[in-house]
Amino acid sequence: MTCPHSHVTTATFQFVIGKSVERRTQGTGEKSPRSRKPAHTRSTRGWEGTLEHRWSNLQPGSFSDRYAFCCGETVGMTPVVVVFVLALSVGTLALDNGLMRTPPMGWLAWERFRCDIDCDHDPKNCISENLFMDMADRLAEDGWRELGYVYVNIDDCWSSMQRDANGRLQPDPKRFPGGIPRLARYMHDRGLKLGIYGDLGTHTCGGYPGTTLDKIKTDAQTFADWGIDMLKLDGCYSNATDQEQGYPLMSKALNATGRPIAYSCSWPAYQGGLPPKVNYTLLGEICNLWRNYGDIQDSWSSVLNIYDWFFNNQDIVQPAAGPGRWNDPDMLIIGDYGLSVAQSQAQMALWAIMAAPLFMSNDLRSIDSRSRTVLQNKGVIAINQDPLGIQGRRLIKEKSGIEVFWRPLSDDASTLVFFSRREDMPYRYQTSLKKLNYTAGVYQIYDVYQEKPLPSLKDSTDFVVSVNPSGVVMWYVYPAKQMRRDAKLYGPAHHHRGNNFAPPTHL
Ligand code: GLA
Repeated sequence: MTCPHSHVTTATFQFVIGKSVERRTQGTGEKSPRSRKPAHTRSTRGWEGTLEHRWSNLQPGSFSDRYAFCCGETVGMTPVVVVFVLALSVGTLALDNGLMRTPPMGWLAWERFRCDIDCDHDPKNCISENLFMDMADRLAEDGWRELGYVYVNIDDCWSSMQRDANGRLQPDPKRFPGGIPRLARYMHDRGLKLGIYGDLGTHTCGGYPGTTLDKIKTDAQTFADWGIDMLKLDGCYSNATDQEQGYPLMSKALNATGRPIAYSCSWPAYQGGLPPKVNYTLLGEICNLWRNYGDIQDSWSSVLNIYDWFFNNQDIVQPAAGPGRWNDPDMLIIGDYGLSVAQSQAQMALWAIMAAPLFMSNDLRSIDSRSRTVLQNKGVIAINQDPLGIQGRRLIKEKSGIEVFWRPLSDDASTLVFFSRREDMPYRYQTSLKKLNYTAGVYQIYDVYQEKPLPSLKDSTDFVVSVNPSGVVMWYVYPAKQMRRDAKLYGPAHHHRGNNFAPPTHL
């Protein structure tokens, strides 16, 4: 993909907050869609208030010095190899539209609201412009936007069953009476972005009109004309040959519109997610993110199923990720019905380790405060959004059911996650930083969910972490000798930027 939009990398945009809210009309229902076949983005953070500023003293070459990996029961590639390979790949191969240099964050309708089109009987929850405006209001007014959650993404079942007289897609007129351009303006006026859904096939998974190869240019232009910021292109009702042609063609077509539109490809999910059918190098060149695997459902078992796939295949998927090109393990279901608080913390931590897009699919109008606290945790967001964009890995899978994850971060920092797959009681896991391949002497530790510093820790000292069943302990780790620099980096000058995740400077 060529690069007409690279200027956006450094662009800033401003919120226009407090504009009058446009009038909303209530849509009505319509016929159910045809039964479907089972199916097995943010531009650069444009405003002051991002964590990127905090993590700006990047010295990529220093990782292998810092972590002279020597030992530990590692799974798959040894960390030293990982770091070396990743150091070579950082900054190469990304879709060069300047978008999503850190994983996109926002809200996506599908998991929570599905294809509910019955606005007569379920006006609050049906797929209509009202739902997206409601979510936009919450993102803008409840502190989400400032944390980075800026995409509001429409999924399936938004369109009319017919294209218009010019062959263009059109929204359902009863449920989206204001049309998509007005909805896009609504988002943009609030410093948010609008995503939309299409499908490279005869029909969407929900049975709505698809984007066959001959319609790719038309649909890309329509989305650009409407002011769309992101496209998720699904793959129902298409075959492997169409996908091989269609996904790259849509990438080109979006680029040719001249509008920066982030591009989410479901292609690998339809090809089993693994080589040789899936070419991750190519995906990184044409898509900003991609769904590798099946759909998330509202349950812990679904989270575990996805988690297993991604970490069992980490040697393949982990190197594919980087700034502008992300693996997408699917939405966050935190705030819905399926997860306990411990499991919510675990999903968030594991998604941060994976440098995954953070698209919540929940009801922000009624979300409980504990889920909100997890989703708004500044430390875990900062880790997810680390500008190095190196996806983390599972280091250890203990027989006890404890699994340990590591992700290298900017400023010689890293994160460690201790995850328990046990179902009995909190487990006291004993280890040392040395056993986890840290060898720089003394480290400072910040406990991300307790939101407090722990006493500094020598790499050779054994410690015990108590990990709750289906829960995590998440640490931000950095070498003690960096204290002075941290004091500068995390000092009060940065506080006005709206994120107070500040590892302690007084230790
Ligand atoms: C597929 C996708 C989901 C969702 C539905 C919509 O199953 O994987 O994320 O978009 O289609 O029908």
